[in-house]
Amino acid sequence: MKNTSATLRWQNEYKINIPTIDAQHKQLFNTYTDLNQALKAGLKPSVIEDTLNRLQLYVTRHFTMEEKYMEEVEYPRMAEQVAAHEYFSSRFNEILQEFKSSGLTPAIVKTIQNELGNWLQDHVAELDMDFGRFYNSR
Ligand SMILES: [Fe+2]
Repeated sequence: MKNTSATLRWQNEYKINIPTIDAQHKQLFNTYTDLNQALKAGLKPSVIEDTLNRLQLYVTRHFTMEEKYMEEVEYPRMAEQVAAHEYFSSRFNEILQEFKSSGLTPAIVKTIQNELGNWLQDHVAELDMDFGRFYNSR
């Protein structure tokens, strides 16, 4: 079941059955939820920026690790995954830059609450899930 906007509550159905990756996805979802709670609570832009930076760093590390797992088992859809990871990273960067230049505008809040969360959720539930199946079926 799809979460409603701005909250990515971890559920077992997101498990791709690779424990290290599942643990990171869970952490990723929690960090995203922290960010949205900070937005909702109207915390200072400096706090929001710290959380965005934290999320970006975490996402980057996570993508790198996930790709290592894929490389190791010669996952056939790896190029698709790398492209998706690059897309998200560059969107994230755009949002961060916009935030730094324009501040916390309603448009940015909306983008964070909807676009980022939807992407993460769909990515894990679809592409990563496919990788989990491949990884465990070898
Ligand atoms: Fe992925």
